[in-house]
Amino acid sequence: MKELLNNIIESNRRYTKQGELAAYIPELTKANKDALGVCVTTLDGQEFCAGDCETKFTIQSISKVISLIIALMDNGKEKVFSKVGVEPTSEAFNSITNLETKNLHRPLNPMINAGAIAIVSLIEGENSECVFNKILDFTKKMTGNENLHIDENIYRSEKSTGDRNRSLAYFMKSTGVITKDIDEVLDAYFRQCSIEVTCRDISRIGAVLANDGVIPWNGEKLVPKEIARIVKAIMTTCGMYDESGEFAVNIGLPAKSGVGGGVMAAVPSKLGIGVVGPALDDKGNSSAGIKVLEDLSKKLNLSIF
Ligand code: DON
Repeated sequence: MKELLNNIIESNRRYTKQGELAAYIPELTKANKDALGVCVTTLDGQEFCAGDCETKFTIQSISKVISLIIALMDNGKEKVFSKVGVEPTSEAFNSITNLETKNLHRPLNPMINAGAIAIVSLIEGENSECVFNKILDFTKKMTGNENLHIDENIYRSEKSTGDRNRSLAYFMKSTGVITKDIDEVLDAYFRQCSIEVTCRDISRIGAVLANDGVIPWNGEKLVPKEIARIVKAIMTTCGMYDESGEFAVNIGLPAKSGVGGGVMAAVPSKLGIGVVGPALDDKGNSSAGIKVLEDLSKKLNLSIF
């Protein structure tokens, strides 16, 4: 496995040149554009890493999976999906158009920014600090990493430039999707996106989902099986935004990307996979990271289809 991963990383390094760093969050332009790393976690707890697997990056939209799990555990699926739909989008992850034209009362899905912000508003907690601490604690459990913390510079950078997210949130308040204070909701959202991780951490998140919500390394039942199933279904149809169809055809795995360059994948009953490659394609997904997942899926015959 280790040798396979080394080969896949080296043969796909050239694809880092085909992407760009996310510049709409200024601090993200300080990332190493050439980095490429992978980690695989098996369900019997083994881990294999290759390339720049120690590279730290912010979890960004991969955190949307965690807040969706918590919102479902807090509220149940009827309430959550009465506020946020489960349909894929053909628009960009931060698009505003569908909010007004598709369905005034439900953002399309929990993986796009609008849906994810609405999901954070559903997490029970007195204020943004309580909600964020719940998300951080859950992320620590899913990664088995007690030391996780936010990257303060990226949090501040995103908070001070996040006007697109503010507009999505205020629009949703006007239509009744969000009922809480917008600044509080967005503060928790910006913080969850700024949690610093490595590809080992996100690989472990994938492994918990692959294992139907049971933590492989200690046997704890963290996520109800039904919620793990729902989340993997939504990752499959919506996790790579308007590239989800192509990703399903070429790779065939439930996955979630983030503009920090991470991609997390769950191979049901087999593996968790985490990749990092901060250079992004025009859909906001890691360009070389997707190539690594494609090779891995083909070589190990991982596609669920
Ligand atoms: O809200 C944002 O725009 C970012 N914090 C997260 C977006 C993101 O990661 C999209 N993923 N590829």
